[in-house]
Amino acid sequence: MQAMRFNFRTLCRNAAERGGQMQRRLLDALEARHTVKSLPEFGIERAAQLAGCTASHIRNLELRGDLPEPRLVEAGSIQRRIYNYNEVNRIRAAIGKRPGRPLGAGCVRVVFSNLKGGVAKTTMSLHFTQYLAREGYRVLLVDADPQATATGAFGFIPDLDLGDGDDLFPALTENPALIEKAIKHTHWENLHLLPARLALQYADWRLSQPEERDNETLGPPPVRLHRALKEIEDGYDIIVIDTPPSLGMLSLNAVAAANLIVMPIVPHMYDISSSVQYFRILEQICALYEREINVQRLSILLTKVDASTETLNNIAVINGAYGELLLSNRMGLTKELQKSASDQVSIYEIDQPRGSRDTYNRAVMMLDGVNSEILLAVRQLWQQEVLSGIEAAENRAKVIV
Ligand SMILES: Nc1ncnc2c1ncn2[C@@H]1O[C@H](COP(=O)(O)OP(=O)(O)OP(=O)(O)O)[C@@H](O)[C@H]1O
Ligand SMILES: [Mg+2]
Repeated sequence: MQAMRFNFRTLCRNAAERGGQMQRRLLDALEARHTVKSLPEFGIERAAQLAGCTASHIRNLELRGDLPEPRLVEAGSIQRRIYNYNEVNRIRAAIGKRPGRPLGAGCVRVVFSNLKGGVAKTTMSLHFTQYLAREGYRVLLVDADPQATATGAFGFIPDLDLGDGDDLFPALTENPALIEKAIKHTHWENLHLLPARLALQYADWRLSQPEERDNETLGPPPVRLHRALKEIEDGYDIIVIDTPPSLGMLSLNAVAAANLIVMPIVPHMYDISSSVQYFRILEQICALYEREINVQRLSILLTKVDASTETLNNIAVINGAYGELLLSNRMGLTKELQKSASDQVSIYEIDQPRGSRDTYNRAVMMLDGVNSEILLAVRQLWQQEVLSGIEAAENRAKVIV
């Protein structure tokens, strides 16, 4: 009797069919648990502190009709006004304190990038984006990682809520103008999201094909994101990009689109070694695409920093090597963030800390410290651009005289 031949192809087809049924059942279950994301709420004193005015000023604006009537909640026998970050931004606009890039400066692109996985690229890009939105900036988060962790943090379930065209793929492979269609509004009015889906992984392969290199209309594969962002960046102060833990075409596009690279490093031996390798690769990429790459600054951000002696020693070593590149604020290892990526919750969005109030406050303080330092770097880039614009105008004037 002839033994039945093992047919791998048939096995894959059957598994895909059975898997498809399983997936539909799982998606039905997910749909039932679909959560609508919302922003934390607070009283008038906190709203006034964030907006940079007094509580009585807000009350007066509301009385005069310069602001909408406040939302009220019952608190015992009295009614309290409540606000969220979107409402704070409306207050800022009413009192002329809405921040933004200065006149003469363009949108700055900040890319969180490292070859190594698990170094907090997503955690830090998500919290930096929300910090900017909380401060009142107009911001776009581009999820360039097919794992779609940042996308999930905004309540989108890729298989349920997103379809073809809802990620970077069309803008990178068909027409840069298609980027606009992929952008989603979120529960933060001034924070938009360009989501990712697992299917975006295909972009890496597609952009590496020889025919793509010769595509004169779309340009060289690594600069497609840079070109697409030009289509929409007028509407934002800052664009933040989260990248996958590899150096495929998606990461390469992010690097070629960056003005500021933030490189998160966990101060452990293996992670330090991979940073060396990353710098070597970046150098080669710059040599290849010198004209396209416009990175004006690179900052190293130490993440998941614990208090062990070994870590302290490693930080001293990193300081010796990269000194001036290191951000002075570090992100310590904290229970509040330990599960944040998998739970798809951001610290800036929770009312109730998962651990103690002290742990939560410490985590927020560390995040605010890191984020304000990155924002400072962005503002320096804006200043440089404004100054060079003035210089150029002066030189033109001299020529005319
Ligand atoms: N400061 C921190 N303290 C404790 N845990 C943290 C901290 N920052 C991030 N984490 C956790 O570390 C894990 C990896 O973080 P994250 O997903 O942000 O890394 P990543 O670099 O984006 O990973 P990947 O390369 O897979 O995209 C997550 O579980 C996250 O919650
Ligand atoms: Mg990630």
